Amino acid sequence: MIKKERSASLHQIESPEISSDNRAMEQGTTEANEAEIDYQVAYHRIYDDTWDFRNANTKEYTHCFHAYPAMMIPQVARRIIENFGKNARLLFDPYCGTGTSLVEANLHGINAIGTDINPLARLIAAVKTTKIDIQVLDTFLQNFNNYIFKINFEVENVNSIFIPEIRNIDYWFSKSNQIKLGILLGYIENIHDPTIKNFFKVALSETIRESSYIKPGEFKLVRNKNWKQKNELDVFGIMVNKLIRNKKGLMEFQSACQNNSVATICDFNTVDGIPANIIEPSSIDIVVTSPPYGDSRTTVAYGQYSRLANEWLGFKEANQVDKMLMGGQKRKYIPLFKSKLLNEVVQTILQEDKERAKDVISFYEDYEKSIANVSSIIKRGGYVCYVVGNRTVKGITIPNDEITAQLFVSNGFSHVKTIVRNIPNKRMPLKNSPSNIVGETAPTMKNEYIVVCQKT
Ligand SMILES: C[S@@+](CC[C@H](N)C(=O)[O-])C[C@H]1O[C@@H](n2cnc3c(N)ncnc32)[C@H](O)[C@@H]1O
Repeated sequence: MIKKERSASLHQIESPEISSDNRAMEQGTTEANEAEIDYQVAYHRIYDDTWDFRNANTKEYTHCFHAYPAMMIPQVARRIIENFGKNARLLFDPYCGTGTSLVEANLHGINAIGTDINPLARLIAAVKTTKIDIQVLDTFLQNFNNYIFKINFEVENVNSIFIPEIRNIDYWFSKSNQIKLGILLGYIENIHDPTIKNFFKVALSETIRESSYIKPGEFKLVRNKNWKQKNELDVFGIMVNKLIRNKKGLMEFQSACQNNSVATICDFNTVDGIPANIIEPSSIDIVVTSPPYGDSRTTVAYGQYSRLANEWLGFKEANQVDKMLMGGQKRKYIPLFKSKLLNEVVQTILQEDKERAKDVISFYEDYEKSIANVSSIIKRGGYVCYVVGNRTVKGITIPNDEITAQLFVSNGFSHVKTIVRNIPNKRMPLKNSPSNIVGETAPTMKNEYIVVCQKT
């Protein structure tokens, strides 16, 4: 079922400074405005539940490899690529996370470039898109199975145990699980083939999480109340099952992949610029991405989610990741944004709570810069497809979809459409803290907005 709706965003923002354009938007009739799509006046959202993919299998191919917060579902990336990337040769994802859009690009024979600040996300994205000779992988898996079988009987005699420095390790892992994880890491450190080594590391990362005292289903580092139940676990069994599952996913991916398309995973920050030696100006056909919708401290804590795995895997500054992500550094001034709507939203939140407004400002200052940089690398006629959420701060819903569209329009794009889907299966926290007061929660977003703009 498809229905169209005028922007509802400004109904929630009762600001005395609402512009005449926006007043027109509130008063005008939908029918009258549809004929003359002046972007500033009429921003339409298309509600389309065929994008919900309610019972779809989201774990096909290498999509099964590793859980991660707020993952894009493959079916959304796939349909975007099929609708807007028919002749695309190069796709870019500026917040690639675990690489959902990159995997889908390769499955459609499109080369892909992704970047992410979180080292764990980069590792997973790289492994999900790297082809491996299955016969070689089988040799390693057989060797690993033999090793595990042997040490199950003589753990005391294992001489390759590697436990890196992990803050509060005893708070997060039982002694017994620490040793077992240390044995697995010791084994992996001795693998010389880098692609096989990374394949094992991804399986280890999930094993680390499942062997820890972290509360299941929680993105922030919170200890499970029943943590003692996790003192003695079959850590090796968990690892073996991950490896078997991932090998099956990899085989499916490799046989479904069209031509020799590849994915390149980078660590640059599009807020600061895009290195021309990696992506040339006007070279990208399509961007498919799901950016964060706020800073990590008050929205989704990607860094906290990944911290223990990042520390076990030896990534430096594992506890600094959230500060490095968009909005991680709090600003003390109020910039004038290129989106009129965003300026109004900021003013409204400022009236409610100055501190919370700073969080919003910090995030959008980075987001605006990132969008300007991303705009410069898109070919004329190319598409950007941003899958975003509209969060609530102090009871005010931030129309992030419309703001995203306005920011692209201010960078030489036209707004093609915004499709609204329900979120039946995206991995999000069930509650968040809109007021940021401990204990105060509200349900998180039920909708996702696919904002499509085209470079003119
Ligand atoms: C919604 S997640 C992306 C999930 C991804 N689509 C997937 O399916 O796995 C947003 C990602 O943006 C990353 N991120 C935040 N700020 C960033 C920045 N300035 N540059 C690059 N990545 C950033 C986070 O680390 C996180 O992995």
